Amino acid sequence: MPNLNENYLKLQENYLFSEIAHRVAAYTKQNPEKNVIRLGIGDVTRPLCQCAGEALLEGAKEMMSADTFKGYGPEQGYEDTRKAIVDYYKRSGVEIDASAVFVSDGAKSDTGNITDLFAHDNVILIPTPVYPVYVDSNVMCGNKVEYIEGNADNDFLPMPDWNQHADIIYICSPNNPTGACYNKGQLKEWVDYALKNQAVILFDAAYEAFVSDSELPRSIYAVEGAKQCAIEFCSLSKTAGFTGTRCGYTIVPKELVFTASTGEEMSLNAMWNRRQCTKYNGTSYIVQKAAAAVFSEEGIRQCRENLEYYRENARVITDTLSDLGIRFYGGVHSPYVWFECPKDMDSWTFFDYLLQEIQVVGTPGAGFGENGKHYFRLTSFGTYENTAEAMKRFRNLLETNKKRKFVFSDWKSFLS
Ligand code: MLT
Repeated sequence: MPNLNENYLKLQENYLFSEIAHRVAAYTKQNPEKNVIRLGIGDVTRPLCQCAGEALLEGAKEMMSADTFKGYGPEQGYEDTRKAIVDYYKRSGVEIDASAVFVSDGAKSDTGNITDLFAHDNVILIPTPVYPVYVDSNVMCGNKVEYIEGNADNDFLPMPDWNQHADIIYICSPNNPTGACYNKGQLKEWVDYALKNQAVILFDAAYEAFVSDSELPRSIYAVEGAKQCAIEFCSLSKTAGFTGTRCGYTIVPKELVFTASTGEEMSLNAMWNRRQCTKYNGTSYIVQKAAAAVFSEEGIRQCRENLEYYRENARVITDTLSDLGIRFYGGVHSPYVWFECPKDMDSWTFFDYLLQEIQVVGTPGAGFGENGKHYFRLTSFGTYENTAEAMKRFRNLLETNKKRKFVFSDWKSFLS
């Protein structure tokens, strides 16, 4: 009998979004006539933009002809795709070298896989609340995690504690789930802290395309010194609707060199390259062709039309919450809106309650960590019609309950 990786015993039985899917499936099985609106997982509803779709078709045609057919590609990504990513950064004023760019099947895989590069005795700082993959992937390999507290007092933007040492720091900005976004000064403090501690920041920029204020950094490399201390993960899932098409990229600057216990120099770029060549055969050619098209100026212009559509949905959600006097976070530089559950209601109870009463699915904050236990997340990635209908139901529920002095009469912020 094999000895199993018993770290899996320390995980919740289901991954957050699988648990939500199970609960919704059970509900719809029992209530097939109900129209359930899903504003839970951040899955997009707009189709691929024209540029990306045409590139996919062109790529498929190339694969059907002996002259242009391609087998295994470079594990790091095709040159054109890497260059298109470099140019995309350049247009926002950030210089990166193509040798630092590794194209992949998404930021989720890479943020999970990156643990391969590090030993198991590091001090790992992870914010709570945050995207659950960071914690789960560390728990799976037996790593101990320390939490940095995001809460209403710091607007869910925790800052470094200079008295505490760290080796690895996870940052997600704009943040999933809270939508909070660090400014340049705040990120600079994290970079300075990492440099002082010789730590590595693992920066998840999956929602960078939603940043609508040019003063806010969309990449950690907009901050001086970041190439000496940060790896950046990004994805086309939200930027370009690739949740089903799958493409992301990770930037591992060559400046990231640390001294091993043997005294040898180890480059994270070389290690990641070694890891990818061993365990990954590269992102498919046609997907990379579409990704390169997305990062052209015209591709980005087309993607922005979809982002505008989601922004309008976010406005529908935030306008409703504002009208009802419910304090919220996010929804501006982020597709997510984050708000407190009614007093004393934990987020899973609130999830079940909304599903039962108005058939609206959101994401319970508990799934993002301890500090999310009494919060709830709605996504703006649904269709406009569904978003408007969900918020209409939400408003009606609240107003009916207010009259009845029922559950929602306990909503602290609503009464204040
Ligand atoms: C989310 O809803 O948090 C995201 O869609 C999850 C993901 O990107 O994997």
